[in-house]
Amino acid sequence: MTDLKTLVSLAKRRGFVFQGSEIYGGLSNTWDFGPLGVSLKNTIKNLFWHKMVTTRQDMFGLDSAILMNPRVWEASGHLGNFTDPLVDCKNCKERFRADDLLEQKLQKDKIPAEAELLNKMLKEMNITCPSCGASDFTEVRRFNLMFKTFAGVVEDKANEIYLRPETAQGIFVNFNNIVNSSRPKLPFGIAQIGKSFRNEITPGNFIFRTREFEQMEIEYFVFPGTENQYFDSWINEFMNFLTSLGISKENLRIREHSKEELSHYSNRTCDIEYNFPWGWGELMGIASRTDYDLKRHSEYSGVELKYFDPYTNTHITPYVIEPSCGVERLLLAIMFDCYYEETVKDEKRVVLRFPINLSPIKVAILPLKKNEPRIVEKAKEIFKIISPYFAVQYDDTGSIGKLYRRQDEIGTPFCVTIDFQTVEQDDTVTVRDRDSMQQERIKVGELLNYFKNKINLF
Ligand code: GAP
Repeated sequence: MTDLKTLVSLAKRRGFVFQGSEIYGGLSNTWDFGPLGVSLKNTIKNLFWHKMVTTRQDMFGLDSAILMNPRVWEASGHLGNFTDPLVDCKNCKERFRADDLLEQKLQKDKIPAEAELLNKMLKEMNITCPSCGASDFTEVRRFNLMFKTFAGVVEDKANEIYLRPETAQGIFVNFNNIVNSSRPKLPFGIAQIGKSFRNEITPGNFIFRTREFEQMEIEYFVFPGTENQYFDSWINEFMNFLTSLGISKENLRIREHSKEELSHYSNRTCDIEYNFPWGWGELMGIASRTDYDLKRHSEYSGVELKYFDPYTNTHITPYVIEPSCGVERLLLAIMFDCYYEETVKDEKRVVLRFPINLSPIKVAILPLKKNEPRIVEKAKEIFKIISPYFAVQYDDTGSIGKLYRRQDEIGTPFCVTIDFQTVEQDDTVTVRDRDSMQQERIKVGELLNYFKNKINLF
């Protein structure tokens, strides 16, 4: 693992992540994903979908709208409860989350969030402003994290709508649609991947906490009384998923939420945390949300959201287990965990040891001499053979040593070099393995099969 600064620099240099609106001086905490970043992100999402939806009979997919009827957010409790406790330093006017200030001072993971208690603790612990050192804060105010905008041309109360702060509610409001169209048997789940927006008071740590991010969420509906069993199995399922993406077990831990910390809808929640360079941080959450959401939406919409159980001939409101994972946060953890620095022949080699199925580029095609027409022609021919099957990059912009280092740094598992032996002797190329750096000669005619055997996409 490396530090944040080194990773941010690699991410920019190699085209994973750029600062948002950079040529205008940026817009704080917005990030754009470059050619390799978008590929990595898409692959993470595809692997999630493949494991959690495509290969399971009990899972169904959804892509619901970001903009929803504002009544959704009344029913879900977000309009009333989705807030952070905010304080301003009266001296320098900087704004902070009161619970963050206390967590830093007390070196504790989570602080209960009631405003009165926070006010008392800030005073009693003599908390000072991290910016100017004064100890003069405003009273704690609840700040709603939802982005508000207007639908249509009139900017009045009647047209106020919100950007969704989680994808989950789109699933709950489509419960009947999916039950009626897909006829699932309980227990079953609905998965969704999509953008969410939160007006975070203190975004930061690169793409760890941003105001616009993607979530991969599942609502897994179960018979009331069986939720604990499914809760545990979803923790296992996601621990396996995360390690299959190259994250080592030692850098993951499960943290159970205390009673005071539980969200208004949950009777049990665990975070899976990752050991980031700045400390353990939430990678994803698994929440037992009871029947809160379905009941609230039934109540607020007047439409009953129930499952008919043919075995007992009764209508029931299922309980639900919700695994929820941020895509960018996961991408960041994967990049940290796969980052290695080694010394090879007195030179530093940086390698992203992505699992092969995750690497944005699977095969690099490197002609040894870019001015030798026979070599270039052969390299282009190989590009044509491999590229319909695997993500390939053609690169002739440096010496072979440099090209290898570049591919190591973006995690490409295989480099193919086309040289004089290829075109003058035996129509073989060298294939270099990223991790062992071993090279072997393979016949061009056998190359595609060679890679088909080595590269699995799932
Ligand atoms: N539907 C439940 C829910 O949204 P959450 O714990 O608020 O729960 C789930 O969010 C996951 O979404 C987090 O574990 C994290 O991976 C990601 N996430 C939440 N807020 C984020 C932010 N501001 N920036 C990046 N990722 C975020």
